[in-house]
Amino acid sequence: MPSLTSLLNDRFALALEQSFGEDFTRRDPVIRSSQFADFQANVALPLAKELKSKPRDIATTIVDNLDLAGICETPEISGPGFINLTFTPEFLATTLNQTNAAEVESETAGARIVIDYSAPNVAKEMHVGHLRTTVVGDALARTHELFGNTVVRQNHIGDWGTPFGMLIEHLLDVGIESETAQDISANPNAFYQAAREKFDSDADFATRARARVVALQGGDKQTLELWERLVGFSRIYFNHIYSLLDVTLSDDDLAGESIYNDDLAAVCQDLEDKGLARISDGALCVFPEGFTGREGEPLPLIIRKSDGGYGYATTDLAAVRYRVRNLHADRALYVVGSPQAMHFEMVFAIARAAGWLPEDVETEHVKIGNVLGDDGKILRTRSGAPLRLAELLEEAIARARATLRESNAEFSAEEEAVVAKIVGIGAVKYADLSVAHDTSYTFDLDRMLAPIGNTAPYLQYAGARIRSILRKADSDAFTAAPIHLGEAAERDLGLALLGFSDVLAEVVASSTPHRLCTYLFDLAQSFTSFYEQCPVLIAESAEVRDSRLRLSQTVLEVLEAGLGVLGIRVPERM
Ligand code: ARG
Repeated sequence: MPSLTSLLNDRFALALEQSFGEDFTRRDPVIRSSQFADFQANVALPLAKELKSKPRDIATTIVDNLDLAGICETPEISGPGFINLTFTPEFLATTLNQTNAAEVESETAGARIVIDYSAPNVAKEMHVGHLRTTVVGDALARTHELFGNTVVRQNHIGDWGTPFGMLIEHLLDVGIESETAQDISANPNAFYQAAREKFDSDADFATRARARVVALQGGDKQTLELWERLVGFSRIYFNHIYSLLDVTLSDDDLAGESIYNDDLAAVCQDLEDKGLARISDGALCVFPEGFTGREGEPLPLIIRKSDGGYGYATTDLAAVRYRVRNLHADRALYVVGSPQAMHFEMVFAIARAAGWLPEDVETEHVKIGNVLGDDGKILRTRSGAPLRLAELLEEAIARARATLRESNAEFSAEEEAVVAKIVGIGAVKYADLSVAHDTSYTFDLDRMLAPIGNTAPYLQYAGARIRSILRKADSDAFTAAPIHLGEAAERDLGLALLGFSDVLAEVVASSTPHRLCTYLFDLAQSFTSFYEQCPVLIAESAEVRDSRLRLSQTVLEVLEAGLGVLGIRVPERM
């Protein structure tokens, strides 16, 4: 489906050129949605200033040259010079009949987008922050793909660095084949904490752990094998969570910190050669331009510690370089918690200064806000321990199952399990996605699972209801029937459907999945009004009935496509 606003933009480009000459062809016509029409074009106001003329006169000239025959009603000029645009129902209907509303056609598609998301840490529990980086990143990845971009997923897991010394030594102490070791794949925190406690209380252990880090970074074969085992246990754990969450990440997308190990020395050398890095207090540091502390002193990014070790920042510098050079990114998104904002600003600035990040490659930190508990603090268990993500998700599924039982549908045990998972997980993901990604929100299962309001269950229910209507049509002849938009509620619904392309383009441009949520919620509400006002199965004639069935089917397709890119399914029945 081509986008409605780009169609209007094209027509305005011609009108502006004819009205004021070629210099004005590419002028933004400033098309916005409007209370009084479908859209309004506001370009006459800035142009009037520039051309020292009255905005209404400018608007009149544009309208005289504007060819919207067969698309819009005659444009009206309102207020100081707004051009009101209203599509004809015939145009909307023809567009729906001839194109697929759930597909997107965009001239700007085809870019390569590297998306860094999820990124949990090996031998550690994933926390609610990782839930959100996973869910938002996956939604962005799927949206870019539907839009027509190529996505390269990079799961930058924390699989390297000093903690691995103690983790490997602890693994040796408990025995690789022991239950304690296997338990990492189910309950990683226990293992991590035991290693940590020994490290803090047992000096011999701490010495062994430090030596082990050196061996690991030096590429010692036996050490690397032990490390592989640890990562393997964690992989089982991550994949369990990913499968519960129904996200697209697979082992092929793993690109942890460790893969950059061999690049770190070269990264430091290059920065030194370019005069960007220097020794300060024994550590190799870069002081990127424009970053200063409270007293105006330049802020360092440490890229090699005084003991010769490299850290998180060095790895991220190597990663930017790799994503441009080897992965050929046109744009790189980093879906990571907001507290790391400064880190990424510095990394991107240094990468630009070093010439690793060309002008035309854009990097963006998609900042992820906190998930809070009832007390307004980061969500934890009652005892204060970090929450176990798997348990949280299982609880959401159990609650969804309980509501399904109460409500109706005689599900078989099997179907109930399937739908409960779709609804429970969908509810958690949608709650994550429907607020702006950089704001915090309170984790509240009751609200997430509410059947009305801007929630997944509300949208899933709308979808399931359409399925049920379509099942009741005794033939599927309507799928080829033409859509007519005779009633106001039908026209509103048609217009809403044709907005899908625009909202998708917006999500892609500004990394804002919550806009898609708002769109889908509005669409479901338009469907409800339509359904209340326009009888479908008992319409006055076969033509009207088939048109409304097909319109309903198109709503289902757009709902499914939209929820689909958010990583949420629509159950057959609910
Ligand atoms: N593992 C890190 C954490 O849990 C997130 C890594 C994000 N990605 C990156 N390129 N630094 O906070």
